[in-house]
Amino acid sequence: MNLLFLLCVLCLTFTGLCEGAGVLVDDLLNAPVGGKVLFTTKLTPQEPHVTVQIVIWNFGTLNIITFTGSNITTPGYEDRITLFISSGSLELRKLSLDDSGDYSVSIISSGGESQTGSTTLRIYEPISNVMITTSSPDLVEFISSVHLSCSSSGSSPSFHWLNGSSEVTASDRVQITDGGSNLTIFNVTRYDQGTFRCRVVNPVSNGTSDPVFLSVSYGPGRVQITGPREIDVKHTLTLTCSAESTPSASYTWFLNTTEILSDSAVFTKEVTEFSDGGSYTCTATNNVTGRRSTAVHALSVIVKQPPSCNSGCIAGITIACCVVVGLCASGLYFVCRRRKQPINLSHGDTRTGGGIQNSVASSSNQDVTYENIDFLQKQDGKPVQLE
Ligand SMILES: *[C@@H]1O[C@H](CO)[C@@H](O)[C@H](O)[C@H]1NC(C)=O
Ligand SMILES: *[C@@H]1O[C@H](CO)[C@@H](O)[C@H](O)[C@H]1NC(C)=O
Ligand SMILES: *[C@@H]1O[C@H](CO)[C@@H](O)[C@H](O)[C@H]1NC(C)=O
Ligand SMILES: *[C@@H]1O[C@H](CO)[C@@H](O)[C@H](O)[C@H]1NC(C)=O
Repeated sequence: MNLLFLLCVLCLTFTGLCEGAGVLVDDLLNAPVGGKVLFTTKLTPQEPHVTVQIVIWNFGTLNIITFTGSNITTPGYEDRITLFISSGSLELRKLSLDDSGDYSVSIISSGGESQTGSTTLRIYEPISNVMITTSSPDLVEFISSVHLSCSSSGSSPSFHWLNGSSEVTASDRVQITDGGSNLTIFNVTRYDQGTFRCRVVNPVSNGTSDPVFLSVSYGPGRVQITGPREIDVKHTLTLTCSAESTPSASYTWFLNTTEILSDSAVFTKEVTEFSDGGSYTCTATNNVTGRRSTAVHALSVIVKQPPSCNSGCIAGITIACCVVVGLCASGLYFVCRRRKQPINLSHGDTRTGGGIQNSVASSSNQDVTYENIDFLQKQDGKPVQLE
């Protein structure tokens, strides 16, 4: 009887080794050091006419527990396993790295049916102490490169770098080396400024470092002076200088070539004089990048005559002028008519000064008055000979 049973056990053990997951649900299980794992079989305890008669659990070639109505447990497993007799499932606790390996089970039910299964258990040290060390977090745009190195405890770590909330991807400027644990950013730009973190993952846990803030100094660029190009004398002048710069730029003002103000983004002159006109220069300086940049702004100081009346008034004056001119013209006409003494100038008369003759001939009015002739004489500077 005993011999027969042992033969059965041996037979089941060997057939179990030859099958895949078989009666077990998982063919691979991951668990952390210090944790626990449940090897679950596919047998359902609900079937009342089927009961488990024999269960044998092995770790590699080492027997863990054999149940044949009562349990035989191998020393070292007594206080850290539970065998669930209804299904043949086994719980293993207080896991250590040494528990990594292949597990197999053989089960004989009341019907005499035998089933086997095997699975692999991998034990990992959980990830902890994720930390970044960095060369220097204070950087200058286009000049600095920065090196970040990530370290952690735990087995089989895989490294990921986070730039804000998105993952860093490698490029010609961004290198990820040493299995991902080192990040180098060459020739940083202002857009690299921000929070970087390292995230380490293994199959049983994950961990994220404290953030490291990379600060990138840049500029000054796009220096600009805003303010009027023209100002009335005695009015208040305000010019403002701005630039793209981190840290903020300091500003120095020049009028033509003379320094007029330093350390201020705003230049103000309460009462503008004519001598305040000219070429204003603002120099922006970034003390960290050591760079400077300038902008120039021309200003004219002018006198603007205050308008004496509004447009309605101007219209009134215009109409009045027209009326006056009209009256004068008609008055003159009547005066002329009265004093008019017609004289006969025959065409082809012998006058000197052909230019004048032409001028007279071209006149629409054929009647030439003495006044006209006086005028013509004066213009020509010579007497006109009349017949
Ligand atoms: C031994 O078998 C019984 C069922 O008879 C079970 O309840 C018990 O948990 C087992 N003991 C161990 C140490 O697995
Ligand atoms: C960084 O900038 C320097 C100088 O501008 C250039 O020679 C070098 O190729 C750049 N490096 C990378 C990786 O872009
Ligand atoms: C970080 O993200 C910004 C966009 O948010 C991007 O412009 C920059 O190139 C990124 N830097 C690195 C090193 O990934
Ligand atoms: C990281 O670990 C937490 C628990 O520590 C878990 O809830 C989360 O799903 C894990 N994330 C990944 C991607 O493994």
